[in-house]
Amino acid sequence: MGVLTLRQPIIAGNWKMHKTSSEAHQLVSQLKSLITTSSVEVVVCPPFTALAEAVKAANQSKILVGAQNMFWEEKGAYTGEISGPMLKELGCTYVIIGHSERRQYFGETDATVNKKVMAAYQNGILPIVCVGETLADREEKKTMEVVGQQVREGLKGLDADQVKKLVIAYEPVWAIGTGQTATASDAQEVIAFIREILREMYGDVVQNTRIQYGGSVKPGNISELMAQPDIDGALVGGASLEANSFAAIVNYNKE
Ligand code: PGA
Repeated sequence: MGVLTLRQPIIAGNWKMHKTSSEAHQLVSQLKSLITTSSVEVVVCPPFTALAEAVKAANQSKILVGAQNMFWEEKGAYTGEISGPMLKELGCTYVIIGHSERRQYFGETDATVNKKVMAAYQNGILPIVCVGETLADREEKKTMEVVGQQVREGLKGLDADQVKKLVIAYEPVWAIGTGQTATASDAQEVIAFIREILREMYGDVVQNTRIQYGGSVKPGNISELMAQPDIDGALVGGASLEANSFAAIVNYNKE
């Protein structure tokens, strides 16, 4: 079996702080009729308040729903936080962890990422763990050092089964929401490096780990990105907010 058949492509929409419940319902309903590919795993990640409605709208379709964050404790005096059991009961399959906006604005670190990753697995939710360097890191030629550290610290302590189910999103911070995409070969280079670090940590089971690229993914650049041997999908922000553009990205192999 070839490596490509081992890893089903996964394309996820990170809606960030966009869409009310009714807007989420409408967008998911539109996607249901526009998505025609069956080879790609499709995930939408609405804000917490729209998760239930998105799950309802995705019923009878292959669209899966993920959250954008979760806390590591299951319950307790943590005002404003949302736990794994809460997300699981709503029907979330995935949860994005450690997005660069959470690291930048909400003080998340590799240590908190690691706690959240563990908590996600404990609750039967699959993490999509975000890593990526800033523009300053890249200019100082520290990309591999920074990303390597995020992977080593954020993803330590997993068992083989967890590594198999893990999804990582490599998102260079300078490419997020800027219209500036990393070239497909730059993205491939860092993603191959991430897989190498994981291999050092966990061995050959990393052949199953899916690694997405994220940062200004659009219908016009998805095919080139997906053609790279180590890129297994995309985490899409801005272009996931509109049904036609997200469906065009998901249907990339139908063009
Ligand atoms: P973008 O965001 O596609 O709007 O660049 C990607 C992300 O932040 O996940």
